[in-house]
Amino acid sequence: MFGRERIEYKTAAQVAGMRRAGLVVAAAHAAVRDAVQPGVTTADLDAVAAKVISDAGATPSFLGYHGYPAVLCVSVNDEIVHGIPGPRVIRRGDVVSVDCGAIVDGWHGDAAFTMVLDDADPADVALSATTERAMWAAVAALASGDRLGVVGDAVEQVVEDADVEYGIVQEYVGHGIGTAMHQPPEVLNYRTRDRGPRLREGLCVAIEPMLTRGARTTRVLDDDWTVVTEDGQRAAHWEHTVAIGPEGIWVTTAADGGVAGLAPFGVTPVEWVA
Ligand code: MF3
Ligand code: CO
Repeated sequence: MFGRERIEYKTAAQVAGMRRAGLVVAAAHAAVRDAVQPGVTTADLDAVAAKVISDAGATPSFLGYHGYPAVLCVSVNDEIVHGIPGPRVIRRGDVVSVDCGAIVDGWHGDAAFTMVLDDADPADVALSATTERAMWAAVAALASGDRLGVVGDAVEQVVEDADVEYGIVQEYVGHGIGTAMHQPPEVLNYRTRDRGPRLREGLCVAIEPMLTRGARTTRVLDDDWTVVTEDGQRAAHWEHTVAIGPEGIWVTTAADGGVAGLAPFGVTPVEWVA
C-alpha cells in the first residue's frame, strides 16, 4: 500500500499539532454521539461533525479524499466502514459506527467509535464492547511492546478470550498518521510472522480494529465506498490515534489522552509536551 515510503517519526512540537487535531476529532465525536437517536439521518450526523470542525477552524480530512463526498463515515449494521452519510434514517437497535478525521495546521487526527441504539440485541452490545476492548488492548500494547506486531497479537487475544466467535476484518487496517491521514506503516489487526517496525519515539499510528459477528470477509457496495460484511452480519469499528513519546504513549484523539481507556490495562498515558 505504501511502497517504499519511509515512516515519518514526529517531534514533540509535531505531536502537539496532532493533539490539537485530535481534540477537534474528540469534540466532533462527542457532538455526534449526543445527536444520534432514532429518526435522525446519517446526513444529519455529518452536518453536526462538519459544524464542530469548521467552528474549530480545522479542516475535515475525509471530504474530497480520493473523491470521498462527506465529513464522516457512518456505517450502520452490516456496514463495516466507509458508509457515506445520506438519507438513511437511524432506527432503534441499530449499530452505528462513526469515523471522523480532522486537520489542524497540516497535522491529522483520526478516530472512530460504535454506538448501539436502545433496544439493541445484546449480542450487538457485546460486539461493540469487544471491539472497543480490542482497540484499547492494542493501544496499551504499544506502551510496552517491541514491535508493531503487538497490535495484531492484542486484537487476536481479545477475540480469543471472548465467549462468542467474531471475525477480524483483514482487508482494512490501521496506519501511520501525521502530515497525511494514511502513512506507513500499515497496522494489521491479526498476527503475522513479520513482527513489523520497531516501536520507538515519534511513531504515530491509528489503531482501528473492525470485528464482525460472522465471517471476516467483506464486499464493497456499488457506491464504491461502503464496505459491508459478505454474510450480512453486523460489524463494529473503534479507532484512536496514538503517539509514542519518550516516556509513554498518548492518545491524541481521546479527550483525556487515553486515561480511562487504558486504566484497565494498567497503562497510564503520558502527555508529550516539549
Ligand atoms: N478514517 C478512515 C480510516 O480510518 C478513512 C476514511 S476514508 C475516507 O482510515 F475516504 F472517508 F476518508
Ligand atoms: Co484510520
